[in-house]
Amino acid sequence: ADDPWQRAYDFAVQVARKAGAEIRKAGESEIRVMTKSSTVDLVTKTDERVEKIIIGSLKEEFGEGTHCFIGEESVAKGEPCILTDKPTWIIDPVDGTTNFVHGFPFVAVSIAFAVNKELEFGVIYSCLEDKMYKARKGKGAFCDEEPIQVSDVKDINKSIIISEHGTDRTKEKVTKIFSTMQKILCIPVHGLRGSGTAATNMCLVATGAVEAFFEIGIHCWDIAAGAVIVKEAGGILLDVDGGPFDLMSRRMVSANNDVIANRIIKEIEIFPAVRDDAP
Ligand code: IPD
Repeated sequence: ADDPWQRAYDFAVQVARKAGAEIRKAGESEIRVMTKSSTVDLVTKTDERVEKIIIGSLKEEFGEGTHCFIGEESVAKGEPCILTDKPTWIIDPVDGTTNFVHGFPFVAVSIAFAVNKELEFGVIYSCLEDKMYKARKGKGAFCDEEPIQVSDVKDINKSIIISEHGTDRTKEKVTKIFSTMQKILCIPVHGLRGSGTAATNMCLVATGAVEAFFEIGIHCWDIAAGAVIVKEAGGILLDVDGGPFDLMSRRMVSANNDVIANRIIKEIEIFPAVRDDAP
């Protein structure tokens, strides 16, 4: 009774592995691509099928009534995206759909679990690399059972920073994104990177491969599992304005420490994003 969610955590790892195997298999045959919010916001039959597999397995194991589910493709089909106090699974079946479509080798399954609006654990399976990242609140972060830890770099000049462009190609937003990237690049930092999946980016913060990852426009399912993993690896999460991190806000800075996070935040040009839980 001390540890009510351990079974759920272990089960999430199994489900993520199964989902990742499905994605790998699907990548070997022809991928049919459809679009969502714009011509560059891609979705495939695999996204939908894998989300059904994940939610189906979780419902079978934990019962339909007591647990809630927020899944990228379910929300796209009109299901609500609201975090309540109930045990809630937050799922991105295929994070990095564009990568998946193009065969760019970073694609992740992201599964997080929250109770009383607090994240209890996160599991990210980088399925093409076959790396299983996981973390449980208060119990550390791991990659394939090895403990992981953020980098201890405090000097921004010695950092690598990840940012992504997202799927909005409005000129005003793209201008702000590139202006931010230009300013950060010219601080100067050692480098700018981006894997094409927010979940994997957060794992790269957690392992110390990069110092920070930030983005405006991400969704809760892209970052929920990563948030636990970064925190448990010793890192921090903030809003892009330096305030507290808000999972539903579509804005996030994840970093190894507050010095790096706040230095990045100084350069971020904020643009509006509609909250995930907006009515
Ligand atoms: C996307 C990826 C990408 C990020 C986008 C997300 P999806 O998720 O995480 O890195 O820049 O904002 O939407 O659509 O591939 O699940």
